[in-house]
Formats: sequence, structure tokens, C-alpha cells
Amino acid sequence: MTPAPTTQATVDTNAKWFADNDQYIENQSKLECYRHMKRAVEREVRGAERLLDIGNGGFFNFDTALAGHVTAVDLFLKDGPGPTANSTFKNGSFLELPFPDASFDCVIQQNVLHHVTGRSVRENFANMEKCLREMYRVCEPGGKAVLLESTVSRWFNLFEQVVYRPVLWLKRSGHPATFQYTANQLLKTALDCGFELEEFAWVPRGRWLLQFGVVWPAALTPAVPVKLVFRRPRSGSAK
Ligand SMILES: C[S@@+](CC[C@H](N)C(=O)[O-])C[C@H]1O[C@@H](n2cnc3c(N)ncnc32)[C@H](O)[C@@H]1O
Repeated sequence: MTPAPTTQATVDTNAKWFADNDQYIENQSKLECYRHMKRAVEREVRGAERLLDIGNGGFFNFDTALAGHVTAVDLFLKDGPGPTANSTFKNGSFLELPFPDASFDCVIQQNVLHHVTGRSVRENFANMEKCLREMYRVCEPGGKAVLLESTVSRWFNLFEQVVYRPVLWLKRSGHPATFQYTANQLLKTALDCGFELEEFAWVPRGRWLLQFGVVWPAALTPAVPVKLVFRRPRSGSAK
């Protein structure tokens, strides 16, 4: 079933916030959790021939030399060469990736899904599904899709569902509104899209985490990063 067309209510805020956010990159380089993420992603992208990094943020937190060629796509990037010899930047949205079907043998997204927020909780879930369907579409049969994503417990997700609209209404500036999913919600949706699960692993949080653009003691945040590795089956099409 193809979901209804979706929109990202926070598209401008995201594009503006992350286009000019050197602090975010600097904070990442200092925190243990992101070193674990870097190791996790490097393990997965090693040997990929055509790698796509969705919502890349304008910088690579992994060694691009591990892959043949890396294409990075984000809302604010300008089309052209990337910062390394084997990379290319592309402007575009996760909701409508600007690439033909089956263009990549490996597709990754790191901490982007919780940013593709709509005007309601219903739209958030529809957007998350649309993004995963886009990952499936551009991934070649037999290819790999990797999700490294900040997740929350079922209880915190229910709390978010209650407060999402009031918070969105009250929010006038600063960090874009986010909506974090449970690992099971991501897993179930990816399986519904036709992916097969290869690995489910929690990423160690370390002592400090980035939330809403600010460094917090990990113990004070509900966020738990997960790594989900999927394979697009060699035969069959999207469900
Ligand atoms: C938290 S940052 C993560 C950046 C990078 N992936 C990393 O892990 O460091 C979220 C990124 O998602 C991007 N983003 C948000 N909505 C997007 C969309 N619809 N399509 C593509 N990128 C999007 C933002 O511009 C931002 O660069």
C-alpha cells in the first residue's frame, strides 16, 4: 500500500538550523556516543560501491574512503562535489529522494527520522513510513539499509503523542520540533515496507547526549540510540 503524500511542517526550520550549525558538529566530535555511532556506521558501509547518506548534515562522521562513492543528500545542500574526493552533495528531501529506483547498494540514515515531523502525530508516523519506503525504493535488491536513530520507550512515545501538537503550536524559534519513535515502531514499519532484518543492536549512550541541540547528561534524557540493519530482498517488490 502506498501511503498518502506527506509534508514536513518543519522543513524550513530544519534546513536553516542545520545549514549553519558548526556547534552540532563540534559537540558530536567530543561525545562518546557518537564515537560508537561512527564505529557502527563504518562497519556497515565498508565495501559499499554506491552509498547514500540521507540527512547527512553537510559533513561526514565516517571515513568515506571505506566506500566506492558516497552521495549525501540534505535539505540545505547544494548540488555538486562533496568535501572528499569520492563524494557528491545533493539537495533533496528524505520524503522524496531525488534518485531513480535501485540507485544504491547501501543506504544509511543517522538521526534524521525524528526530524521529519509533520503537523500532527498522525503525519509524523506517515512521514516516517514514507521515508522508509523511499529508502527501500532507492536501495537495489540485495542491498543494505542502515538506521542509526535515537529512540524512546513506549511510555515516553505516548507522552510525546499527547504533547506534540501543543508544543508545535507554542514553538516559535530555536531547535526544530522532533518526534522520537520506539525501536519497535521503526522495526515494524521497515518490515511492513518489505525489508528483512539483519541486526538489531543498542548503541551505548556514554555519559552525555545531544538533545534539542544541547549536551545533556545521558541519565536525564529518554533517548536510546539503536542500530537497525536491513536487507532489501533480492526478489519481490515493496509491500
Ligand atoms: C540531527 S541531524 C543529523 C545529521 C547527520 N546525519 C548526523 O548524524 O550527524 C538531522 C539532519 O536531518 C536533516 N533533515 C531533516 N529533515 C530532512 C528531510 N526531510 N530530508 C533530508 N534531510 C532532512 C537536517 O537538515 C539535518 O542535517
